[in-house]
Amino acid sequence: MNNFIYDIPVKVYFGEDQLQHLGEELSKFGKHVLLTYGGGSIKKIGLYDKVIAEIKKAGLEVVELSGIEPNPRIDSVRKGAQMCKDHKIDVLLAVGGGSTIDATKFMAAGACVDFDPWDFLNEKQASVEKALPIVTILTLAATGSEMDCGGVISNPETNDKIGRLDSKMLPKVSFLDPSNTFSVSPYQTACGSSDILSHIIEVYFNMNQDLYMLDCVMEGLMKTVIKYAPVAMREPDNYEARANLMWTSSWAINSFIDGGKRQAWSCHPMEHEVSAFYDITHGLGLAILTPRWMEYCLNEQMVSKYVQFGVNVFGINPNQEAMIIAKQAIAALSDFLFKTLGLKSSFTALGIDRTHFETMAEKSVKLGALKYAFVPLDKEDVLRIFEMCL
Ligand code: NZQ
Ligand code: ZN
Repeated sequence: MNNFIYDIPVKVYFGEDQLQHLGEELSKFGKHVLLTYGGGSIKKIGLYDKVIAEIKKAGLEVVELSGIEPNPRIDSVRKGAQMCKDHKIDVLLAVGGGSTIDATKFMAAGACVDFDPWDFLNEKQASVEKALPIVTILTLAATGSEMDCGGVISNPETNDKIGRLDSKMLPKVSFLDPSNTFSVSPYQTACGSSDILSHIIEVYFNMNQDLYMLDCVMEGLMKTVIKYAPVAMREPDNYEARANLMWTSSWAINSFIDGGKRQAWSCHPMEHEVSAFYDITHGLGLAILTPRWMEYCLNEQMVSKYVQFGVNVFGINPNQEAMIIAKQAIAALSDFLFKTLGLKSSFTALGIDRTHFETMAEKSVKLGALKYAFVPLDKEDVLRIFEMCL
């Protein structure tokens, strides 16, 4: 069992009517606020007006950057970083899903340097020496960006989508009100739930001896998604379902479940290449890849993990041969993603063919450290998994 450091200093206000604390939290960092958001969902749900009212009540000055794209682009980051400099911003307030929060993290870091923020992500890997403070108001349960220090940014000019972690970009405070997610469509709820599941699966499928307690936590988190995602899709304003998904999204990736497990992720590096080339929703790409990846990696050496997953998460009968249980576990996960959540089940259904497979596979391996994954993967392995997704 490896040693590890647990350090997640994000203050979370969870539940309804917590926005009354927004002004006091922002004021701790200064007077000038950059408010960032996406394509306008926060206006439709009335959240924008509430946020502005709280900011004004606290006597703060606000400038806005809207239009942050799903799969956020480096141009938005550049614009935001420049606005921070121009308006002498003290704190950034990201209101939205993972895309808005991720872009805001790099704006906060970009505001503190004189070079292009893309240098944090490209091969230069410029170090993040500091970042302006970030406060978030989450509106979509999926990425966990509200409680982690990562962000993923796209550069359509180079077909790149690259992630980077740095503790200086960790939000200082996050407001998690499940009712802000009532308006999330069934499709985005399904994609978000698939993303949450994948964040757990990427850690859970690991043969290193580690804390049994963490495996139990992960199984509980996965069962929570499986139980509540369909409820939230059927009854969008079911508070219990939305609350469970929201808190699970944060805990799936805030590094608690990692413990001392050290292992590179498998499906995320592959999916980021799919979204980089085809601009698809992240959780949808993961749904298509994950069961194929599981099938590809299944062997006698790894089968016990599949058995544990199948029996403890999907309730599969343990009194069968291990390989049979493993295959039933993959089938149960596929049924959940494609039948229960109704997500499309192949690249072909999304209009994705082999055109970019070679480049996508090469970049997955280059950016993703896949040789250190659950089952080490090289470019040829990734190509075979992509083929299985057609
Ligand atoms: O732009 P608006 O108008 O807000 O609409 C968004 C967007 O169209 C909409 N939406 C958000 N909240 C809503 C809502 N619609 C109605 N009601 C609400 N309350 O949903 C759409 C998708 O939003 P987006 O922020 O793109 O989704 P998500 O939270 O899934 O974020 C995806 C991005 O995060 C990255 C992904 O790769 C992708 O770029 N990831 C970030 C991670 C991290 N920071 O740790 C880890 C993840 O693995 C992931 O890679
Ligand atoms: Zn993800």
